[in-house]
Amino acid sequence: MEQITEYLSRYKNFNFAAGLTTSEYIDSLQSFEIRDSDIFLVTYPKSGTIWTQQILISICELGGVLNDYPNNMEQMPWLEYREDRPDYSLRPSPRLFASHLTPALMPLGLKDKRAKIVYVMRNPKDNIVSYYHFSSACSVLETPKSFENFLEQYLTGNVGGSSWFDHIREWHSMRDQYNILFLTYEDMILDLKGAVTKICRFLGKNLSEAAIDQVVKKSTFTTMKKDAKANYEFIPKDKISGNFMRKGQIGDWKNIFTATQSQRVDHLLQEKLGDLSLKFIWE
Ligand code: A3P
Repeated sequence: MEQITEYLSRYKNFNFAAGLTTSEYIDSLQSFEIRDSDIFLVTYPKSGTIWTQQILISICELGGVLNDYPNNMEQMPWLEYREDRPDYSLRPSPRLFASHLTPALMPLGLKDKRAKIVYVMRNPKDNIVSYYHFSSACSVLETPKSFENFLEQYLTGNVGGSSWFDHIREWHSMRDQYNILFLTYEDMILDLKGAVTKICRFLGKNLSEAAIDQVVKKSTFTTMKKDAKANYEFIPKDKISGNFMRKGQIGDWKNIFTATQSQRVDHLLQEKLGDLSLKFIWE
């Protein structure tokens, strides 16, 4: 793993938060043994990961038996950041994992299409703004010198998670090889119940109307903000001091982007992903 800045390490073209994983561990994930019942949540950073994590955990809790863990990060650990996690092969099913990895770094067994992947994507302008604020507040990320400066780093893929454009393209272009459900942050904001219902259908969880309503209630911004298991305030402040639950809205980019910056993103979006015909909701 090549340390590229104080905060970032690079391995196989992908930028990781420095010091949290090793190249050997990332390589070992290729042969990570997949179970039919495994559920993976994959996102580019700041796309609604901890939100969807709460939804998936709540669905599994209400739709079957989940072992109890002290918080959502223990219940659904980050695949790539091993730290002191126990041996996952000893975990009871269903196992839940979160990841920011690209397809090339994911376990090969996922291509058997037995386990399920939920991929959440967010419009890039709100994604940039969320990432910018998080980087400004988070102790393990480089503090941006300015929004313009952060935008440059983001658009050139010099942030954790590398290029947003590559992430989206790689997962979309390999969609046929996986059992994968694509969702957008914006669709979840506009119709949370619809998104929960869609996820239940994909996971094969037959939840009652009342149980679906309960998942929705547990996953609103207001509830999650107060939920100590879900809001990531359990992370010791000397490890990550940063607010995971900031605004939770569509269109905050309008408060910070200049017209020129906005046009630049529009242009790059067209140039890099125009052929995918993705539809984004911007406000
Ligand atoms: P903002 O910074 O725009 O508020 P991630 O979990 O991938 O780091 O994404 C964090 C973003 O998801 C933050 O966006 C956060 O506020 C938002 N988020 C978290 N929980 C949410 C919820 N229940 N509803 C809406 N947005 C939520």
